[in-house]
Amino acid sequence: MRELTAVAPGRVNLIGDHTDYTGGLVLPMAIDRYTEIRGKRGGDRVHLTSVDEIEPVDIPLDIDRPQDVCPAWGRYVAGVVAEVVAAAPRTQGFRGRITTDIPVAAGLSSSAALEVAVALAIGFEGSALATALLCQRAEQAATGVPCGIMDQLTATSGVAEHALLIDCADLTITPVRVPAEAEIVVLFVTRRTLVGSSYADRVGECAAAERLLGPLRHATVASAARLTDPVLRARALHVTGENRRVLDFADALAAGDLAGAGHLMVASHNSLRDLYGTSTAAMDATVEKLEATPGVYGARMTGGGFGGCVVALTDPGALRHGWVVRAVDGARVLAA
Ligand code: GLA
Repeated sequence: MRELTAVAPGRVNLIGDHTDYTGGLVLPMAIDRYTEIRGKRGGDRVHLTSVDEIEPVDIPLDIDRPQDVCPAWGRYVAGVVAEVVAAAPRTQGFRGRITTDIPVAAGLSSSAALEVAVALAIGFEGSALATALLCQRAEQAATGVPCGIMDQLTATSGVAEHALLIDCADLTITPVRVPAEAEIVVLFVTRRTLVGSSYADRVGECAAAERLLGPLRHATVASAARLTDPVLRARALHVTGENRRVLDFADALAAGDLAGAGHLMVASHNSLRDLYGTSTAAMDATVEKLEATPGVYGARMTGGGFGGCVVALTDPGALRHGWVVRAVDGARVLAA
């Protein structure tokens, strides 16, 4: 067997957070930070070392309980291996090494990039959507977090120079060009993990709101406002408002209206802070500072929240700190 390299990008979400698991709208982009797995197929085990981890992962192809694998980062690998083998029983093992420049536990989907890279490395041959759905199932099984589809689908389906308007109800993707005169800057605030966070509570609260209102995707802000339970009302108001903002943001980007897009980002942040309870004081402070910075059109927390990163839309060179990220194509396998 020849050496190969499987490459999968991280992502930043420009707007539309905590909407994917109710079939809502999101607007992420795959970014020029990658997880790479280089190695060879063969045998009946998956053995991976990582530059960032002391302990390697070594699991049999017939791994039974991915959620029990040690070291813990191996659970993502094991989840994917179990899913790929279930889909394609003749899957071979793999021996290789992982490198990445996606910061772990920063809300930039390092776990989705790892999952997608593992699926491609061990030879899963489904479509971008099938690969994303497989990796979403793997993450849910490995971590117990009922995550949505945004991160995995962005890693498999990225389009260079474009953000992706994803309709999580029918899983269609409409690329939206990121204006060349804008810069997307990611600022790291604090480490976090969704395992053990209130993410699962939010998923449950949305499900409870849907039992009263019907699918949040079809609910209006006005109908959400009529819910009597204050927590469910706040969650539903966020989701219904955020779905609207995603469409308006996509229109603003397409029209080159950076000021309009920036205002929507701030409105999204405020909604996640006040209605959805997924921001933190440090993230709020970072967004406020950015709002007051010349050349910044808008900023917001990005991803699951409870820590992680803030994303800003700026004039080129407006910020001296943070990572300027570019929108890139999705995951692929390269001959080494
Ligand atoms: C995490 C999940 C996604 C999505 C975001 C919030 O990144 O993995 O599915 O729910 O949080 O938008």
